[in-house]
Amino acid sequence: MNKDLVTDKFVEHFGEAGDFYFSPGRVNLIGEHTDYNGGFVLPGAIDKGMLACIKVNGTDKIRAYSVDLNEYAEFGMKEEEAPAQSWARYIFGVVREIAKRGGVVKGFDTAFSGDVPLGAGLSSSAALESTYAFALNDMFSLGIDKFELAKIGQATEHNYIGVKCGIMDQFASVFGKTGHLIRLDCRSLEYEYVPFNPVGYKVVLIDSVVKHELASSAYNKRRESCEAVVKAMQKRHPEVELLRDADMTMLAEVKDEVSAEDYMRAEYVIEEIQRLLDACEALKKGDYKTVGEKMYGTHEGMSKLYEVSCEELDFLNDVAKKCGVIGSRVMGGGFGGCTINLVPEEKYDAFIETAVKEFTAKFGKEPKVYPVKIGDGSRKL
Ligand code: GLA
Repeated sequence: MNKDLVTDKFVEHFGEAGDFYFSPGRVNLIGEHTDYNGGFVLPGAIDKGMLACIKVNGTDKIRAYSVDLNEYAEFGMKEEEAPAQSWARYIFGVVREIAKRGGVVKGFDTAFSGDVPLGAGLSSSAALESTYAFALNDMFSLGIDKFELAKIGQATEHNYIGVKCGIMDQFASVFGKTGHLIRLDCRSLEYEYVPFNPVGYKVVLIDSVVKHELASSAYNKRRESCEAVVKAMQKRHPEVELLRDADMTMLAEVKDEVSAEDYMRAEYVIEEIQRLLDACEALKKGDYKTVGEKMYGTHEGMSKLYEVSCEELDFLNDVAKKCGVIGSRVMGGGFGGCTINLVPEEKYDAFIETAVKEFTAKFGKEPKVYPVKIGDGSRKL
């Protein structure tokens, strides 16, 4: 992360540097599209994220500079003063969500930069939200707890970006811990740090370089499908609030009452919640083979039932299988981005070489390779 660059740009635009804050992106070992269904997830923060320099400016305006895009925005903090640039709306949204919770934020100057690739399924947007939620809470002594900081980021997505996301990304960004994954119950927000040190394996992401567009309504549509199935189930089972509460028998009961598409979506989610629980049990025993099998199961489900994979990601999944990778799947929201791979050390080099070579030959563009390091969550530097 280039602190010097952020410092230089801040000084260039605003004068003497302020305080520095960082929040990471995330990976997720298993448990995809389960968060907004009240299920479980197993993410970890990574060593890449967003870095911001921030300083109170004595006005009622925010003056922000995106180092990576070389763009500047200036905006007020009232609801009707939303900036036009989408990157600035994340900062504005966080400020608004804090205000809705009674927090008083004063005008500030800020420059920020990230090293988490955009649109790759690594939650660069959650990293940005968490950076500002954490920083403003600290700078203005607002006393907001970490759970609420994560919810502020999520609410920013809902209300200012238009993505009806779950809590996983923001939670992982705020709560991350080096060497650990977080087993999070997305309904109760109870969580447990799970040591993650797969001896004999490496975890690596292969980026299909297909940019996903979460906001492109496909994500929200998946969520609507899940809600439609819950609604149908409630006629017989009023206690079902989320797909977390459902099982395959309940799903079978509503087969004729929901669309074939919604049925498939719910089938995936119910299976995925169970897959995660099974994977967590296996992880406790150090049984990475089973964890890997579950990951392949997730890929299959995301590709065939939830339909959030794409040709490039399916191809990478096939190559992984062929190269003896024990677990591989599309990670994050889908529609592009990365696969996450659990690779036996002795097969690592051959896998990377084959994946890059075959992918490039087929699609005429090189995939990117990111070895995963699990790092800490939001912090002041
Ligand atoms: C995106 C969302 C998360 C989660 C994942 C899929 O990353 O922001 O809330 O739903 O997709 O697991």
